[in-house]
Amino acid sequence: MDYARFFSDDVASFLPSPVREIFRKVDLSAICSFAGGYPDAATFPLREMPELTARVLEKYGSRALQYGATQGVPELRALLAEREGVSPDEVQITTSSQQGIDVCARILLNPGDRVHVQEPTYLGALQSLRAYRAETVALPASLGDARAVPGAKYIYVIPDFSNPSGETLSLPEREALVDFARREDLLIVEDSPYRALRYEGTPLPTLRSLAPERTLYLGSFSKIFAPGFRLGWMVGPPELLGKVYLCKQALDLCPPVFDQYLATEFLASGALDRNLARSVELYRGKRDRMCDLLARYMPEGVRWTHPEGGLFLFVRLPEQIDTVALYDEALSAGVAYVAGSFFYPDGSHRNTMRLNFSFVAPEKMEPGIRLLASLIRNKLSL
Ligand SMILES: Cc1ncc(COP(=O)(O)O)c(C=O)c1O
Repeated sequence: MDYARFFSDDVASFLPSPVREIFRKVDLSAICSFAGGYPDAATFPLREMPELTARVLEKYGSRALQYGATQGVPELRALLAEREGVSPDEVQITTSSQQGIDVCARILLNPGDRVHVQEPTYLGALQSLRAYRAETVALPASLGDARAVPGAKYIYVIPDFSNPSGETLSLPEREALVDFARREDLLIVEDSPYRALRYEGTPLPTLRSLAPERTLYLGSFSKIFAPGFRLGWMVGPPELLGKVYLCKQALDLCPPVFDQYLATEFLASGALDRNLARSVELYRGKRDRMCDLLARYMPEGVRWTHPEGGLFLFVRLPEQIDTVALYDEALSAGVAYVAGSFFYPDGSHRNTMRLNFSFVAPEKMEPGIRLLASLIRNKLSL
């Protein structure tokens, strides 16, 4: 049967994720994988889970297994509101921040609308924006007296330890971005799933705190609790969250209730912050190790970012190296990365790659980087 005529016009704009394709093709545990954005499983509170689960069942009983409010359970919204310094009516629980990105696109964009993005930027956001047939346009490099492109609705930005670059916007850059948004009357979607994973330096104000009237802030439990729960939150003006609320009704009625109560108890007991402190220690060590190994093994002319937090660093290779073309060879040799060009809407910058330092087992990091460096060295000597 030919199904073509049944599909909506949107389907043609769906973009497959090369990162997810990699996961389908290979068993990542069998190689040195710097590809995915997975947390280290050692940060998951496995040992605490039986007690946490029992506590949720005892305290909330059948409520934990019932449908819940579309905005999220009140207990978790209250805790998050307190952490974010806002009132509970400014908090919406999401079924992860990927859903938050998608819901923002869904309530704000018509086909042909434009969104300013950093380049490179998160592939999952590019997938959502494409799916709603929006056009992404690079955020101007200098925002001082820049104009937004016609038809621009909002800026999608990852100010803290971006995926894929690992870079963080400085305070002057944040202020310039907020000025630009105010001058050009744009909303801001601030995607910040890594904000709590800071390994050095002092936290900078969120864009939301600088421009609360025009920012939808997206937080996530994926990197500070466990991604399998698919839980996140959104903070924004109640007028905008009202539309998110309607959209969520159609999407999934409510976020996962049992998971929300687990997060509530984990947060309220202080266990989340204790676990987070251990994760930060672990990841700081892994980041330092990866930077040391890159310095030791990479040939002349290779540059990389030094992330103050998050899970990634971004590598720039000499122009003649094509990381898309190198990929299969690297995989057969036993090392995986994500080509940096996948994070550019136009597929440019083929001499870049994203490396994740959180997931790889400690004993595999050195062989992996040594292998990658030798593949690059071979290409350079051709
Ligand atoms: C910048 C960014 N936003 C959103 C997400 C999605 O995270 P979640 O698990 O909360 O959906 C990721 C995941 O890697 C990400 O890197």
